[in-house]
Amino acid sequence: MCGIVGAVSTRNIVPILVQGLQRLEYRGYDSCGVAVHASSLEAARQGSVPGGLQRARSTARVAELLEQVATEHIAGATGIAHTRWATHGAPAVHNAHPHFSHGTGADANTTSAGRVALVHNGIIENHEELRAALQARGYVFASQTDTEVIAHLVDSHYSGDLFDAVKATIAELHGAYAIAVVHKDEPHRVVGARAGSPLILGVGQEGSEHFLASDAMALAGVTDQIVYLEEGDLVDLQLGRYWIVGKDGAALTPAQRPVRTVQAHSGAAELGPYRHYMQKEIFEQPRAIADTLEGVAGIVPELFDGAGVHGEPGAAAWRVFKEIDSVLILACGTSYYSGCVAKYWLEDIAGIPTQVEVASEYRYRTSVPNPRTLVVTISQSGETADTLAALRHAQSLGMQHTLTICNVATSAMVRECKLAYVTRAGVEIGVASTKAFTTQLAGLFLLTLALAQAKGRLTDEQEASHLKAMRHLPVALQAVLALEPQLISWAEDFARMENALFLGRGLHYPIALEGALKLKEISYIHAEAYPAGELKHGPLALVTSAMPVVTVAPNDALLEKLKSNMQEVRARAGVLYVLADADTHIESSEGVHVIRMPEHYGHLSPLLHVVPLQLLAYHTACARGTDVDKPRNLAKSVTVE
Ligand code: G6P
Repeated sequence: MCGIVGAVSTRNIVPILVQGLQRLEYRGYDSCGVAVHASSLEAARQGSVPGGLQRARSTARVAELLEQVATEHIAGATGIAHTRWATHGAPAVHNAHPHFSHGTGADANTTSAGRVALVHNGIIENHEELRAALQARGYVFASQTDTEVIAHLVDSHYSGDLFDAVKATIAELHGAYAIAVVHKDEPHRVVGARAGSPLILGVGQEGSEHFLASDAMALAGVTDQIVYLEEGDLVDLQLGRYWIVGKDGAALTPAQRPVRTVQAHSGAAELGPYRHYMQKEIFEQPRAIADTLEGVAGIVPELFDGAGVHGEPGAAAWRVFKEIDSVLILACGTSYYSGCVAKYWLEDIAGIPTQVEVASEYRYRTSVPNPRTLVVTISQSGETADTLAALRHAQSLGMQHTLTICNVATSAMVRECKLAYVTRAGVEIGVASTKAFTTQLAGLFLLTLALAQAKGRLTDEQEASHLKAMRHLPVALQAVLALEPQLISWAEDFARMENALFLGRGLHYPIALEGALKLKEISYIHAEAYPAGELKHGPLALVTSAMPVVTVAPNDALLEKLKSNMQEVRARAGVLYVLADADTHIESSEGVHVIRMPEHYGHLSPLLHVVPLQLLAYHTACARGTDVDKPRNLAKSVTVE
């Protein structure tokens, strides 16, 4: 979603701010901007650059912002920067952050420097009433954003101390925010605050410079010394010093907000031989699964203590697994579909009643809490606002057994759940999730085995056999990736279509859902998925020769039923594209295109069948010429509701 970077330093900070934006750009890329305190730089004081706040904004990509700041000679040692994913107001330069406040009565269209500059991630729910009140006091608005009200509010509260002004401002805000603010009269100060959106503090060179960012990734190569701010924290960055105040207004000690050394990852991984990050990430799946399973010698409770990043020792996991009598999975998007696969595993193998809910629905409905439920959140980023809110809602209902399957060890999700399984997909840049999904499935399968063991439903032989199959996954995935040329050929057909249906049954119904999601996200083809048995209850009415029907057909107990569903499609001139296991006896014929999967993989089959669907979506999008890694209107990490 939106990205924030801020800095207080003695050197020109613009290159660091813009590079930080480049690392965060894949999360939100409607527009971007930077504002610096020109007079904060010694050189500026000597006259080459006028003092005060300077700003550059663009609806082009960050690379072009870099050119703009060079052309306009924007330089300063204190500054803030932002990449935007539009919520209020269209993607346009006047809606791009940083937003200025010029004070009351100023010309809204002025290009002169503002008094306050501010960047914001999140949504201010009471922005309309705040806007009306500020307008009544003479503030002139230059954008349609909810953010601009915060800039004007800070200005209205300012009487010589930016920290005090921000403190007074946030007391008036309802909603979610992470903000970073500078004021023209305080050249060496950035003030930040977080409530509902992530914000971290980076301690730079020998503690003399300090940074703010919405993710440590923005500061890769700049500092690995990170303080994770918590809900309600206010932070004051000045040259050579910083302090943090908690939501009760008390200053926090270093012990309360410790500096942690984080493993630097820039996210700006090399593309290597690939055209897009999504393609690279699809092909990284054998490695990602191998890394995720590295060191898994057996099903032991320590697997769920968050790979050492977590406080709960393995023994606690075991106690919890023995005590719980049901599972509630909460997630969004692709992560939700991995939860849907896990439901089949958990009920079949572990015999545990399992419910899977879209996080944004769960948090707002009346449900019947069961304190003996294991609440499992699934998230690639660990920062998805709806999933975090659903977790907190479950906790507020008295469900204290919480576990996350998450790809980011330092995320809020891992910090807020008692137990964690951290997947090792590595940084995922493509907005359409691929390797995060298959590694989530690997983690969820291990969780299933652990719960089965705790419930006395897993013999040593079964454990050994499941683990053997898991260890063979990287090799099996390589064989599936070798099918790419056949999927390129399918993609040529799909690129000419405007609709597609995906069918699956049982364990593979969520895989059909994920295949449809991938296709619509990046190729903009309307795609829907159905459990194949539902075909005759509606979607069959849509089947014509212009509606390709993708069918996931593993050789499982439902194969014969699925074959009947396929006949129903063929009888209406529908064209089938079938992913069939070797021994299914489904052959290519008129109107039936078959890709033969290398081997049948039992319970783990969903991890293999999703890969051709990822490749189909990818190559269809390439054939249609869309922006594969940054599809329109979407964002990688959705940190607003
Ligand atoms: C966004 C992303 C999806 C992702 C979903 C959930 O919609 O574009 O790829 O599946 O958020 O994100 P999470 O980080 O919680 O898995």
